[in-house]
Amino acid sequence: MATTLFLPLLLQLIFLSLVSSASSSNFTSIDCGASGSYKDKSGIEWETDKDYIVNGDSHVVESPDSVPEPLKTLRAFSSRKKNCYPIPVPGGGRVLVRATFYYGNYDKKRSPPTFALQFDANSWTTVVTSLDRLVQHEAIYDVFAEGTAVCVAQTEPGQMPFVTAIELRTLEAGMYDSVDSSYALYPSDAYDRIWAPYAASGGLVPAKSDTSVMDPTTVKDNPPADVLFNAVSAENGSTDIVLHLSMLPADNPVFAYVNLYFAGMSQLGSNENNSFQIYVDNEIMGTTINPPYQSAAECWILVTDASASTNITLRATPEATLPPLISAMEVFVARDGLSNGTDASDVEGLIALQQKFEVLQEWNGDPCLPAKYNVEWVGCSSSHVTPRVTALYLSGYGLSGDLPDFSTLTALETIDLSNNSITGNIPEFLGKLPNLKELNLGDNKLTGAIPSSLLKNKNIKLITCGNPDLSSSNGQKTCNNTPSSASHPNSSKIIKSSVLTVISFFLIVIVIMS
Ligand SMILES: *[C@@H]1O[C@H](CO)[C@@H](O)[C@H](O)[C@H]1NC(C)=O
Ligand SMILES: *[C@@H]1O[C@H](CO)[C@@H](O)[C@H](O)[C@H]1NC(C)=O
Ligand SMILES: *[C@@H]1O[C@H](CO)[C@@H](O)[C@H](O)[C@H]1NC(C)=O
Ligand SMILES: *[C@@H]1O[C@H](CO)[C@@H](O)[C@H](O)[C@H]1NC(C)=O
Ligand SMILES: *[C@@H]1O[C@H](CO)[C@@H](O)[C@H](O)[C@H]1NC(C)=O
Ligand SMILES: *[C@@H]1O[C@H](CO)[C@@H](O)[C@H](O)[C@H]1NC(C)=O
Ligand SMILES: *[C@@H]1O[C@H](CO)[C@@H](O)[C@H](O)[C@H]1NC(C)=O
Repeated sequence: MATTLFLPLLLQLIFLSLVSSASSSNFTSIDCGASGSYKDKSGIEWETDKDYIVNGDSHVVESPDSVPEPLKTLRAFSSRKKNCYPIPVPGGGRVLVRATFYYGNYDKKRSPPTFALQFDANSWTTVVTSLDRLVQHEAIYDVFAEGTAVCVAQTEPGQMPFVTAIELRTLEAGMYDSVDSSYALYPSDAYDRIWAPYAASGGLVPAKSDTSVMDPTTVKDNPPADVLFNAVSAENGSTDIVLHLSMLPADNPVFAYVNLYFAGMSQLGSNENNSFQIYVDNEIMGTTINPPYQSAAECWILVTDASASTNITLRATPEATLPPLISAMEVFVARDGLSNGTDASDVEGLIALQQKFEVLQEWNGDPCLPAKYNVEWVGCSSSHVTPRVTALYLSGYGLSGDLPDFSTLTALETIDLSNNSITGNIPEFLGKLPNLKELNLGDNKLTGAIPSSLLKNKNIKLITCGNPDLSSSNGQKTCNNTPSSASHPNSSKIIKSSVLTVISFFLIVIVIMS
């Protein structure tokens, strides 16, 4: 007889426990909006987000005493298309990232917002926050660079994005390695993801381990011991356990990655046998499961066309004397091929600008992606595979000092650096940028002669007025305040200047980090 267990069990517990066992530098826990760093009751070291981000404002939820420490505060963002937390991942590798959102009526408007969540150059999901419930999203993906950025972006007028907490865990080499690295895994999220031992109905009973010894390291995906001390068992050997993937979409089949964990709840007697087999939609999988005592067995299944009607059945073998059981299950959905982001040499050029002009360090995350969420002062080509930076709209950003070498930005067509306090000579490389059509250097403090590369290049519309000390043959001393035709529609916004100390720049190359 088949018994149905509608699965709310998924993986939340697993990751909660990963959190509590973590203490290495491979683990980052950021309490957004917190005034300082602290260790919580389970020994987790939480950092304030002050060293990660400068934009946004800290807030305290309406009833801070009713929630655990990390949920008491948050950071909300009223400006910028997107705001990113850059997190170092030295050497790159596979990471699990969890973002937590607890609205808690912090603004007393009883109006929980909806906004976009992104990582690096990739869209992640839409965050729909709730008045009184915690909302969490998790993803597992590969970081090819030295860091990753978790970003929120406004999508609805008047709905301010916020973040309560961000946790990042570097996964051991080999974890979840049956997954193609060009995809991200999103734990399927439609249900409460805590294993609920209420399954003690319809032929299923809860089971509890009779030991306090557990070695979860025998399986590669490192489930926490806590998850393995409990199981759901069939009442008797003639009852199947049927797991429905009802959290998946009913219509469009997805590529799902299912992890099952099994641990024996007691030592088998000499005549006992607890073996069972796994069927996906009536099709038998190769392995026979013999749940080990005081350690765990894991089985992962790739279901290429999984949907809400997919079922996974655990059925006792003919030799078995005990019913099948299961301790935990994770369901991931592989989505969107990942983008490696904006062209690396373009990013290098932008970093050169950020290193020279500190005010530009306030922006981070991928400069061009996800599409429409580019950095405000950058224009991009529309390619979603590897976008190029085609424009710099830096008029009136308060830039002072000499221009750095940003000649690696070879796709630039428009450069607007007007109305700043840029000093020194006009660099020769500007005339050699192969695609440049417009260069506005008006209203600065440039000196010396216009380089021959620019004077000879007829493709470039050059504006140098308003640089009184520039020895230019055409004698344009003032610009008559004509706004530049290259000016970005929203670039006149005044940007408050502030100093970053610890933040990495764009995510591809981490230049400064402490
Ligand atoms: C971080 O993870 C890597 C790879 O799993 C490991 O070699 C290294 O020892 C870890 N570092 C710390 C501080 O735990
Ligand atoms: C096994 O349990 C099911 C209900 O879960 C029950 O209907 C059936 O009679 C039981 N079989 C035996 C042999 O006890
Ligand atoms: C139980 O039976 C299976 C065959 O179905 C066998 O592979 C396994 O070794 C047996 N387990 C024990 C503990 O004897
Ligand atoms: C499981 O799925 C298969 C194939 O769709 C179906 O034939 C079977 O009836 C399902 N079993 C249960 C218990 O839902
Ligand atoms: C991203 O970069 C990595 C490492 O350089 C490479 O293996 C992967 O194929 C790239 N992915 C895409 C989509 O270009
Ligand atoms: C020049 O930039 C400043 C801010 O740095 C701004 O207040 C001013 O309006 C700008 N002038 C023009 C003509 O755009
Ligand atoms: C400029 O800002 C306005 C209002 O904030 C917005 O509607 C518009 O899309 C922006 N334009 C660009 C090019 O970002």
